[in-house]
Amino acid sequence: MKISWHHSLLGHNTFGMNVSCACYAEYDSEAELTAFFAEGGQSALPKPFLHIGAGSNLLFTGDFPGTVFHSGIKFIREVPDRTGAPEKLSVEAGAGTPWDEFCLWCAERGLWGPENLSGIPGETGAAAVQNIGAYGVEFQDVVSAVRCFDAVTCSVKTIRKADCRYGYRDSVFKQSAKGRYIVVSVIMELSRRAVPRLGYGHVRAAAEAALSETGQESLTPGLMRKVILDIRNSKLPDPAEIGNAGSFFKNPVVPRSSYDRVENYARSRYGQDYAVPHFDAGSGFIKIPAAWLIEQCGWKGFRDGNVGVHDRQPLVLVNLTGKASPDEIIALEKKIIASVYDIFGIGLHPEVEHI
Ligand code: EPU
Repeated sequence: MKISWHHSLLGHNTFGMNVSCACYAEYDSEAELTAFFAEGGQSALPKPFLHIGAGSNLLFTGDFPGTVFHSGIKFIREVPDRTGAPEKLSVEAGAGTPWDEFCLWCAERGLWGPENLSGIPGETGAAAVQNIGAYGVEFQDVVSAVRCFDAVTCSVKTIRKADCRYGYRDSVFKQSAKGRYIVVSVIMELSRRAVPRLGYGHVRAAAEAALSETGQESLTPGLMRKVILDIRNSKLPDPAEIGNAGSFFKNPVVPRSSYDRVENYARSRYGQDYAVPHFDAGSGFIKIPAAWLIEQCGWKGFRDGNVGVHDRQPLVLVNLTGKASPDEIIALEKKIIASVYDIFGIGLHPEVEHI
């Protein structure tokens, strides 16, 4: 275990918060992690404990008084496939593998599965915790099992997908197993057979345009990856250029009656033919894009000192100057939540984890 004291977290969070932790601990293998805990090494480290990936979905609200752990377990390898189906392939990736390296690895080998999740910042272990999602696909659609170190029993166990209790940006690792399980690797089930997923937004149109542009007869994982990366790059700010943590809020899922109020508001403002963007979430519930709600409240492109709201995707709060403090981001977050609530009566909830 590599341990460093009073460690800066500036390079460990894509929001660019200039904060530090009392202790930073990094390991490179499952064996190293297991031995450290089995020998009681953790008892000498300041608490609380926090495991992070690339810090691409969190907001440090100040200096962290405890120990931040990070997995340096990086590998991608084929493993025996449990289905035995000839078109299937199982691949295991270490928790510290950058997620997009895994997506690229699959695309280069013509393997279908994670291509719509291309370009999402962060690491594979965090992807399993957060159930990352984009363009109609979620991590849970690709994973078959998650291997975790259990800090209570000091052993590694394999958790089948069904037991991960995946939901919208949610999993057992964020709920009852929080603090107990540390993801060491994930096992993904990929396909050699074409399974393009084109149903989200303009993905189908963009894929058709890419086919005619390249003269390719059919889609490949590599071309789908390019289509997705082009869409992402046209909307989302690159954290290497401007500090951000992706979508700051979750898209709210509301009862039909709340949606009707939103629709009445929009139609009185824009006319009776106006169509509010929304998705059926089942059981009488409707998902409304938070980006739309925030834009209606006039926040798109807002700037105030060091912080702002992205001008192409208002769901993303940005550290405009690189000098924003956690308090400035939180003040903006509160103002946005209050204005959406005032106008629509809908409470937004952060997607970004506040530490
Ligand atoms: N919209 C607006 N104004 C805008 C942008 C969007 O009104 O400026 C409305 C449009 O109606 C659009 C809808 O919002 O159709 C959805 O927009 P988008 O496709 O950009 O997706 P999103 O719901 O805002 C979610 C994820 C993103 C993911 C995209 C694409 C959440 C919280 N966010 O955003 O994930 O990339 O879908 O699938 O679910 C992330 O989690 O960090 C993230 C970026």
